[in-house]
Amino acid sequence: MSKSHYLSNCIADTLRGAAANLAVGNLVVFPTETVYGLGADACNGDAVARIYSVKGRPLDHPLIVHVSSMQRMGDWAEDIPEYAIKLANDFWPGPMTLVLKRSLLTKNFITGGQETVGVRVPDHDVALALLEAFENIGGKGIAAPSANRFGQVSPTTAAAVVEEIGEYLDSSDQIIDGGTCAVGVESTIIDCTGDAPRILRPGAITSMMIEMSMGIQVAKTIGSSYGGVVNNSAGVNSDEIIRVSGSLENHYAPAAKVLLCETPTPGQGFIAHANMETPAGVVRLASPQSDEEFAQILYSALRQADAQGLKEVVVMQPIGIGIAVAIRDRLARAANGR
Ligand code: TXA
Ligand code: MG
Repeated sequence: MSKSHYLSNCIADTLRGAAANLAVGNLVVFPTETVYGLGADACNGDAVARIYSVKGRPLDHPLIVHVSSMQRMGDWAEDIPEYAIKLANDFWPGPMTLVLKRSLLTKNFITGGQETVGVRVPDHDVALALLEAFENIGGKGIAAPSANRFGQVSPTTAAAVVEEIGEYLDSSDQIIDGGTCAVGVESTIIDCTGDAPRILRPGAITSMMIEMSMGIQVAKTIGSSYGGVVNNSAGVNSDEIIRVSGSLENHYAPAAKVLLCETPTPGQGFIAHANMETPAGVVRLASPQSDEEFAQILYSALRQADAQGLKEVVVMQPIGIGIAVAIRDRLARAANGR
């Protein structure tokens, strides 16, 4: 059954309108299960150029193309390896982006001139219904980075989108409010151009999940803050760093200085698991009960630090594997940010 059947007629109408808006070259911000995306028709170079200007993002940073189902991945990519099809089968719709050899449809304005393209099927009813509505009127896919200014914290609510980029959007652009994103950190990016999958950015689809699904070892490569340390500069050439802009050392950063694993002092913000106490005079910003909740609230808690005018925020990083790896990755970069 098509995704739009799950949604009320009213929402389906809104999404048909939003799809038509994309088709005439406007931008539509939409919710996904990870973070909000700043969407444009992935075949329209002028519309995609506006994504870059709204974000203030360098032109050589590639964009992810979102499609409604894995059947559409062949529009954007070719020579797709068997293991990538297995990953798509196992984890789409879901918080996973596959980097594949691009097809002729995929232009340089999507890939930043690279020969590969990132493709994702998001796991969100509104996003899927929007994608279907867009495809029903001839659209091929929606290019969408996270809907924040370059280097800043990704938005996980519509209000955060307005705060981030509202002033840069035109009146004909649109923001679809789909509530709070369930996952809260960006998708796992997996390079599928080699003999085996290689994780470029950790996310909710973890290396262990991929290894269990595929029965093989997964390479953990660039920017591996898998131990909680940013080490992009070690052994990675600058081309490769640009391939995943979120892998730059300073990214995902609020205005407040992010400090990791220090004891907070009065006046500082504090984000930590619920079982850690708040020292006197410290501003508790979030108390997640699990690593999943930690990921979901992290970006809004960092925004909260800025909203309260805090100069510093101390975060006690989760120590586990699973999504904790992605949390440590983003925090290490946020801590490096300013
Ligand atoms: O969860 C997500 O992935 C969200 C939602 C909106 O789907 N999108 C997102 O997009 O995080 P963005 O542009 O903020 O981050 C995507 C990352 C960038 O760092 C980009 O460099 C990388 O994906 N990327 C895109 N295409 C690539 C490619 N062909 N090769 C390597 N990296 C690529
Ligand atoms: Mg981003």
